[in-house]
Amino acid sequence: MSTIIHLNTRHTSYIMSVLPTGHLQNLYYGRRIRPLKDAAVLTQPNAVPYGSMVAYQKEYPTIGLDDQCLEYSALGKGDYREPAIELTAANGCMVADFKYVCHKTYKGRRGIPKLPSALGTEQNCETTEVILRDEAIGMDLTLFYCVYPEYDVITRFVCAKNNSGQKITLRRLMSAQLDLFDSNYSFVTFDGTWASERTMHSRRLCEGIFVNDSKLGVSSARHNPFVMLTADGCTEETGRCYGMNLVYSGNHSEICEVTFNHKTRLLTGINPSSFAWLLAPGEEFYTPEAVFTYSEEGLNGLSHNLHGFVNNHIVRGEWQNRERPIVINNWEATSFSFTQGKLLSIAKEAADMGIELFVLDDGWFGRRNDDTSSLGDWHVNEKKLPSGLKGLAEKMNALGLDFGLWVEPEMVNEDSDLYRAHPDWAIKAPNRTPSEGRNQFILDLTRKEICDYLTETLSKVFSSANITYIKWDMNRNFSDIYSPTLPPERQGEFFHRYVLGLYGVLETLTQRFPKILFESCASGGNRFDLGMLCYMPQTWASDNTDAQCRIAIQEGTSYGYPISTMGAHVSASPCFATLRNTPIETRFNVAAFGCFGYELDLSKLFEFDKKAIKEQVAYYKAHRRVIQFGRFYRLRGGFNPDKRIWLCVSPDKREAVAALFQETAAVGRGNELLRLTGLDDHLDYTVTGRRQYVNLKTLGDLVNNVLPVEIRGDGVIHTVLSSHYMLAMCDEVFEAGGDLLNGYGIKLKHQFSGTGYNDNVKIFGDYSSRMYELKARE
Ligand code: DGJ
Repeated sequence: MSTIIHLNTRHTSYIMSVLPTGHLQNLYYGRRIRPLKDAAVLTQPNAVPYGSMVAYQKEYPTIGLDDQCLEYSALGKGDYREPAIELTAANGCMVADFKYVCHKTYKGRRGIPKLPSALGTEQNCETTEVILRDEAIGMDLTLFYCVYPEYDVITRFVCAKNNSGQKITLRRLMSAQLDLFDSNYSFVTFDGTWASERTMHSRRLCEGIFVNDSKLGVSSARHNPFVMLTADGCTEETGRCYGMNLVYSGNHSEICEVTFNHKTRLLTGINPSSFAWLLAPGEEFYTPEAVFTYSEEGLNGLSHNLHGFVNNHIVRGEWQNRERPIVINNWEATSFSFTQGKLLSIAKEAADMGIELFVLDDGWFGRRNDDTSSLGDWHVNEKKLPSGLKGLAEKMNALGLDFGLWVEPEMVNEDSDLYRAHPDWAIKAPNRTPSEGRNQFILDLTRKEICDYLTETLSKVFSSANITYIKWDMNRNFSDIYSPTLPPERQGEFFHRYVLGLYGVLETLTQRFPKILFESCASGGNRFDLGMLCYMPQTWASDNTDAQCRIAIQEGTSYGYPISTMGAHVSASPCFATLRNTPIETRFNVAAFGCFGYELDLSKLFEFDKKAIKEQVAYYKAHRRVIQFGRFYRLRGGFNPDKRIWLCVSPDKREAVAALFQETAAVGRGNELLRLTGLDDHLDYTVTGRRQYVNLKTLGDLVNNVLPVEIRGDGVIHTVLSSHYMLAMCDEVFEAGGDLLNGYGIKLKHQFSGTGYNDNVKIFGDYSSRMYELKARE
């Protein structure tokens, strides 16, 4: 065995070699190790055959493929695990068997035709290409490994080339396979549904096959393509873990198989379900790109690798590493029913509060007064907006606000001029009544003429006014899939062709409008993935704006995606999704860990909320660089592990912002340690609690304990008082060394516990929270 391929990042190594049978095998993926003189110690001792094993080749009777760690497996020659490739040759034979031919390494990387891929230059990335061949079929596979040393990331994709002179049908072509020699892991996935996206679930692996996938047509809220393998004992701060994601926005599948021999196979790629791609002679097929990372610094370490990678190699263009504006979005304030006057009244308040961008959501076009009509008719409704988009944008600009717009281009309502003109543009299966979702159909983006129409129509809209931001929505899952323009043997290409069509439209529009900040959205976070992030630097994380729910959603999202990618807004209380009441300060403290904004009727607020919001906006502006692009940590409360702490630390560690979140108050548990991490042990910090206010309403009748006159807890005077009086949360200012904060933490002021109130008591009830600023002292 002479061929050893040893890839290195700053802290990790990935090592492959070739089995005597000619198959490419994985020897190692883990912490960085020095080059090997020979790979004897990493080579599996195939000393004896066993039981029912199929020996690949007479000359090597002890080698059965089923128990090897392989790099890219096929079915048919004795490996019975989930394969990376499945195909049908022209003669109908489904056996495939790919062996190593050669490899080469070069600086930099290439893109992937028609698919988005990570950025890389000769300075920050190196590629190894390995060619595998199946002589019998006449097909080559090129495995691409792009190594990003700085972020401990290795990406992978595959090109299949048909050299056979006959048609081949690919029924599965995964982006990557990772075979590990052991199986002491938990498989961690991020699952959910509408308004409960990316909720973390972890299960200890045992023998069997576990699938995390989407068949919805989008990457989906059901199962995000980002998954992790965590070694036993791994925590947020310590331990070994692997992360894997896919640069793709359609049906995906992450398959994890553990065999009785305690080997683990992990696969990621386009979902083989409903997939079949006909490869004509000479044609190539490229998979989407998979992203791998490994960390020995726990889940926070893993997230840091991915956050850096996404911010610097996935997000691109004008908004890469650029601070995002503070938004006011009218959706939760007005839904479809607004006038220009109403929008301007919200905008005036917003401008007054220091908000920077007004986003006009759904309902501005056609006859769209509810969700039953007009998708597809992208011309302004002049009844609602007599000055048109141009005039409205000018008025917003005159107030000092930028102007942004919502669109949902991939859809069409039956009740629309577009549908009436082109009923065949909507996706429908033959001889069936198509099913609707939110009263709408999906346009067939496998068809070039429809993609071209969209590109041109949207270009007109985007250039019709001074628009600096676009929210690109997508509000239903796929059904009835079929395209009349594809021949029967190509219908299995539908889902992937749709995604390629969408990417083509996005590529052109983002090139044409490089200054626009795009935010993608799909009924909230139904398409939160690295593919969309290649075009749109941020994604609306969820329609659920309840702060308590958002803690789980944003925290779940943060394992694989940086804060700078998550749209997060403060909405009204009680929240429409849960009917829960949450203090305005907590709504801010949660939404502030994201691309921040408001989504409520600012023209209807009590003075208390207005004043609080004004201070919130100023605070966010002062700290957004470190929040959006600093190093983000997830921690648990010191004494009370049910409390969560989020922390963002600047690259030079001289500045940080932390927040402590409490779910329910408990008497006797009023003491709390603020234990942080990632700060400089040698620096001294001033820790200052954000100036936050408590609404007197929270206190009800208890206000009479401090007031000179008696008022009714639920009376008019109480309401007027609570609307105007800003009761400040007690001051908290501490001086502490980084070594203390990183190790033990500092003791915060005691929470109100029913037995008295003074300057040293913090009013902190259910769903309370506080932000803390950390500044290094000179
Ligand atoms: C779903 C989105 O997630 C919401 O934010 C909003 O834009 C609505 N669509 C509008 O229809």
